[in-house]
Amino acid sequence: MKFTLDTTLATGLDTACLVIGAFENAPLHGSAKLVDKASSGELQQLIKSGDVSTGWKEATLLHGLKGVKAKRILVLGCGETEKFNKVRFDSVCSSAGVFLRDHATTGAHICLHEVEVSQTTDHWRLRQAAVNLERANYRYTATKAPKEDDNQPLLSASFNAGADMQTALDEAVGLAKGYLRSMELGNLPPNICNPFYLAETAQEFADSYKNVSVEILDEGQMAELKMAALLAVGRGSEYGSRLIVLKYQGKDKESRPTVIVGKGITFDSGGLSLKPGPNMEQMKFDMGGAASVLGAFEACASMQLPINLICVVAAAENMPGGNAYRPGDVLTSMSGKTIEVLNTDAEGRLVLCDALTYSQRFNPTALIDVATLTGAAVIALGHHASIIMSKHDDLAEELLDAGNTAVDRGWRLPLWDDYQPQIKSAFADMKNVGGMAAGSITAGCFLSRFTEDQRWAHIDCAGSTWIWGGDKGSTGRPVGMLTQFLIDQA
Ligand code: BES
Ligand code: MN
Ligand code: ZN
Repeated sequence: MKFTLDTTLATGLDTACLVIGAFENAPLHGSAKLVDKASSGELQQLIKSGDVSTGWKEATLLHGLKGVKAKRILVLGCGETEKFNKVRFDSVCSSAGVFLRDHATTGAHICLHEVEVSQTTDHWRLRQAAVNLERANYRYTATKAPKEDDNQPLLSASFNAGADMQTALDEAVGLAKGYLRSMELGNLPPNICNPFYLAETAQEFADSYKNVSVEILDEGQMAELKMAALLAVGRGSEYGSRLIVLKYQGKDKESRPTVIVGKGITFDSGGLSLKPGPNMEQMKFDMGGAASVLGAFEACASMQLPINLICVVAAAENMPGGNAYRPGDVLTSMSGKTIEVLNTDAEGRLVLCDALTYSQRFNPTALIDVATLTGAAVIALGHHASIIMSKHDDLAEELLDAGNTAVDRGWRLPLWDDYQPQIKSAFADMKNVGGMAAGSITAGCFLSRFTEDQRWAHIDCAGSTWIWGGDKGSTGRPVGMLTQFLIDQA
């Protein structure tokens, strides 16, 4: 989508659709007020009569309002002023995006950022409006014929703002690229989006963005590094495993980088501890963590943020097979610590532990892994929040803050040592499952044993990265939280 800035008075602009917001219990404001004036109070009249709803997220399309040059006016309800906040504003912008997408409008002029939202700046509102329009306009088309009734997406949007808002627009472009990349990778089927495909995507970044380089380690190179835990997971698959290492240098070489690590299980059958059939197809989203770190990396490279960033993806497929790893196996991880496998379906922590050990060579200021690690994360927080765990209060706060700012929220769970005994093993330094109780936390405890001297945080995005049911598909999350965190570092 093409974004531009245009300070032309909203009533005088020749556009296919003018998009304004209106509260239930506050007078019309900004461009909405101008529209009302130009139409001699008709807009206010339509609101009064109930023909235009100002309820939260309601959208009403008006045609040929007199005194206004735009062909259509889309009025977005903002609801009650007292209840309005960042989260509600974001939803209003998504509603606008969905409406424009579903009504074959290819261009629009947006004034939504003029509405008042407490604790926000013009910059933030414009950015969020643009990002949400782009996210709402995304459609998956890679492996299906376009349907005739599938409307044209919105191709361009101008915003009622001046050149001083260009930085907000640049951030929006970066964030949107990151989200869309993550959504597309998440949605692609596992026979296409396999470990090699993730590696090719990383290679594409190195080819197309400035200051980006990539290294892709194959199984032989990982064996030399003694990454037996990561390699065990991919052994049952016909696809090879890969460790993808992307580097972005936006600052002097000597500055320590931020390292983000993603779980890239391109399909999780459970391995020999096979998952039940129903819903197994959803396990193509088990690379949602990898998709998010790649998306955030792309956002950062696209914005050319003044930071150093390294993105590590552990890419593998978890399948049963004659050569597959088994329950009972004891693996010696790259760190030297041994792991008893009790369940081959707890594979995410096995690929991550070696990727985290590897990442320490970069001496990061912050080491953050992102993973669809546990079904228990969906049980705990549903689809609304990602779980954040860290022994470093400041790092946890920074991630929570970033999530609030980007409206891609997280919620913290403890990593107390009290939980550690649950992964004690009779035959190894630890086992890879911790029982029914606190499944997400014991997975975090497992990873904590490989990040002892690091300023480390773990994000379990099993609930937030995809939605199933009617609108099933990837949300691209937590690209917003990660990218905001990186912007805040800059
Ligand atoms: N990828 C899954 C986690 C998952 C399950 C995410 C369902 C979203 C929905 C992970 O590899 C897994 O299978 N975890 C097991 C761990 C268990 C065997 C200790 C789980 O959560 O059931
Ligand atoms: Mn699994
Ligand atoms: Zn998994």
